[in-house]
Amino acid sequence: MPDVATIPLHFLRPWWLLALLPVAAVVLLVHRRESIAARWGGVIAPHLLKNLIIAPTRSWGISPVHLVAAGLMLGIVALAGPTWRRELPPFVEDKAPLMIALAVSASMGQTDVAPSRLERGRQKIRDLLAARAGAQSGLIAYAGTAHLVMPLTDDRAVIEPFLAALAPGLMPSDGKNAAGAVALAAQSLAAEPVAGTILLVADDLGGADGAALRQAAGRNNIAMLSVSPPQDEGNAAGLDAVRVTVDGVQYVDEVEPRTLLVYYLRERLGKTGTVVGCDTSNCGACTVHLNGQSVKSCSVLAVQADGGEVTTIEGLARDGQLHPVQKAFNECHALQCGFCTPGMIMQSVDLLGDNPDPDEHEVREGIEGNLCRCTGYQNIVRAVQSAAQAMKPGATAPVENPAPVAGS
Ligand code: FES
Ligand code: FES
Repeated sequence: MPDVATIPLHFLRPWWLLALLPVAAVVLLVHRRESIAARWGGVIAPHLLKNLIIAPTRSWGISPVHLVAAGLMLGIVALAGPTWRRELPPFVEDKAPLMIALAVSASMGQTDVAPSRLERGRQKIRDLLAARAGAQSGLIAYAGTAHLVMPLTDDRAVIEPFLAALAPGLMPSDGKNAAGAVALAAQSLAAEPVAGTILLVADDLGGADGAALRQAAGRNNIAMLSVSPPQDEGNAAGLDAVRVTVDGVQYVDEVEPRTLLVYYLRERLGKTGTVVGCDTSNCGACTVHLNGQSVKSCSVLAVQADGGEVTTIEGLARDGQLHPVQKAFNECHALQCGFCTPGMIMQSVDLLGDNPDPDEHEVREGIEGNLCRCTGYQNIVRAVQSAAQAMKPGATAPVENPAPVAGS
C-alpha cells in the first residue's frame, strides 16, 4: 500500500466528499420526476405506455438543475481541500518551545573538534533551527554567568547574527555555570502555555549535578548535546550516535562503538560517583541501573544504552533527600573505605525492587555479584534489611540505627 505522503493528490478534509451523495440523490430524483414514463406509470398500463410515449428529440441544453448540481459539487470538492502536498498532523510537528543554552567558555575555543568546539556547537544549533523552522526557539549564552541572547522567536534568521557573534571573550567571566543557564532558560519558558525543552550545547557540564539541573529545569525537559572530542583521536572516524537519559538529563553524544558505559559516564559526563574496580565485571563497583535494572556498566557498551535511561548513584537522591538505601548505609555504618558503596547501593535498590522484604540469605544472594574488599558484609546486609523496613508502604519510622557489627 502506498504511503499517504507519496500520494500526489489527496484531500485535507475528505469527509466533505460525503456531501456529494445527497446532491447526486437530488439530481436523480429530479430526473425521475421529469421522466414521462415515471409520470404516467401509475395511470397507464406499462405494456401500453411504452407504445404511447413519443421520445422527445435529444436536447444538449444545460438545465438549471444540472448547473446547480455542478456548482454544489464543485463547492463540496473545494471544501474537501484537494491538495498535492500533505499537511502533517499537528502532533507530528515539533512546535514545543525550545531554549538553547550554548556554552561559550574558554574550553569551547579548543580545536580538538573541527573546526572548534564552539563552531561545532553553532553548526548543530543551525541544523536544529532549520529542522524546527516555524517553531519557537530562543538562545542563551553562558560561561561563568548565563545571559539571555534571544528570547523565544519563530524567526530563526534573527538568532543567526547573535549566534555567529558569540565568543568566549564576550563573556564577563569564564566557567561552566550550566545550572545558571538552565534556570534562566526555565524562566524564559515560564510564560509558555506548555512545557518546553532546554538544550545545553556544551563540551561538558562542568561537574554540574544532574539532580540540580533537573530541579532548575522545572516542568521542562532537559537535554544535552555534547561537542566534546572523541576519546581516541586515532579512531575519530566511525563514531556512533547515542541518545541516553542519565539521572534525568538527556544527552545526545557521539561515542566510539567500543566505549564502555562506565567510561562514558565517568569521562564524558563526569559521573565519577560510579567507580571502576576490576574492569572485568567481577567486583560490581560500577553498578548502575539501565532501564530500571542493575547492570555492571563495565560490561555494557555505551551504544547499548542508546535510547535508554540510566540512573547512577548520583541520581538516586530526590529533592535533596537521600534514597532510603543510601540513608540505611549511612546509619548502619555499612561502609568503610566506601569504594564498593555506590555499586552496592545500586544493586541493593534493584534487589529491593524485586524482593521488598528479603531475609538475610536473600540479601546475601542478591548482592553476591558485588565485592567489598573491606569485608563489611554484616553491616551491608543489615542496611539492606533496614532499608526494606523503611521502604514498606506506610512505614513512617526512620531507618533504624543499629550499632555497627564487625566482620563479614
Ligand atoms: S568495575 Fe565493573 S564489575 Fe568491577
Ligand atoms: S567498604 Fe571498602 S570495599 Fe566495601
